[in-house]
Amino acid sequence: MADTEIKAGVIGHPIAHSKSPIIHTHWMTQHDIFGRYDAIDVAPEELTQSLERLIEQGYVGLNVTLPHKEAVYALCDDLDDAAKAIGAVNMLTIRNGRIHGYNTDAFGFIENLKAHPVPLHKDRPAVVLGAGGAARAVVYALKKEGFENIILINRTIEKAEALAEFFGLKNGVVPWDDRMSALVGAGLLVNTTALGMRGKDALDLSLDALLVDAPVYDIVYVPLMTELLKQAQARGNPVVTGIGMLLHQARPAFAAWFSTPLPNVDAALEQKVLGV
Ligand code: ATR
Repeated sequence: MADTEIKAGVIGHPIAHSKSPIIHTHWMTQHDIFGRYDAIDVAPEELTQSLERLIEQGYVGLNVTLPHKEAVYALCDDLDDAAKAIGAVNMLTIRNGRIHGYNTDAFGFIENLKAHPVPLHKDRPAVVLGAGGAARAVVYALKKEGFENIILINRTIEKAEALAEFFGLKNGVVPWDDRMSALVGAGLLVNTTALGMRGKDALDLSLDALLVDAPVYDIVYVPLMTELLKQAQARGNPVVTGIGMLLHQARPAFAAWFSTPLPNVDAALEQKVLGV
C-alpha cells in the first residue's frame, strides 16, 4: 500500500444521493488502496473556483454529475472521443494541473449490455426512447458497438431529429405517438427517459409488437425491475436492468485514478449499491 493518500471524489449539486462513494470504496478495499472518495457539493456558480481548489488539494480525479456535465466539458484541457461526441464529461483526471475530460457512460451502457446473457441482433433496428443526455451516450455506444440501424423516439421530435442528424442515423426518428408500431422487427429496445423511475410518470408502452427474442434494456434502476422490464419479462423478452450501467461506468475512472486494472463488477457490489 502506498503511504500517500490518493484523493478522488464526485462533484454535483445536490450530491447526497450519489452512489459513487459506495462503489469506489468497495474497490479501494478490494485493491488495498490507501485512498479516499468524497462526495463534494459544488453549486453551479462555484464550479470553476471549486475545481481550482480541488486541484490545489491534490485530487487525482473526479466524477462529474448533474448539473455540471456540460459546464465541466468547457473547462477541460483535453477530451476523449466519447466526451467530444456526447458533449458532456462525467469523469476527469488531473495530471500536472491539467484537466483531462472523459465520458464513461457509453462504456458503462455497453459493458452492462454485454455482461447480460442476451442476444445482440445487430442486423435489426435498435429502438431508443428519449433524446436527452443519456440518449446521446447510448446512441454513441450502440454505433460504436456496430448497431448500424438505430431508431430514435422522443416526445419532442425536434430533439430526436437533431440527435439523429448529429450521429448520422439513417433510419431517423419516429413520433412519440407511433412508438408502439416502431417496435415491429426491432432487435433491441432501450429506455433512456426517466419515465418509469420512482416518483416520475409511468412509461406508457405496450410491447405487443416486439419480437420476443429482442432484449429490453431500461437504464432506470429505481426500481430495479421497472414496469417496462416486468412487461418484457412476462412475455419472454430478455431483460437488462440499469444498475450495471452505473457500476460499469465507474470502472475506467477507478483504474485511471488508482493505477489498477479495470475493477470487477460483482454481486456484492451490486447489492451494496442497491441497499439490499
Ligand atoms: P437525461 O440527461 O437523463 O437524458 P434529459 O436530458 O432531461 O435527461 O432527457 C429526458 C428524456 O426523457 C427526454 O428525452 C424527454 O423528452 P423531451 O425531449 O420531450 O423532454 C423524456 N421525457 C421526460 N418526461 C417525459 C414524458 N412525460 N413523456 C415522454 N418523454 C419524457
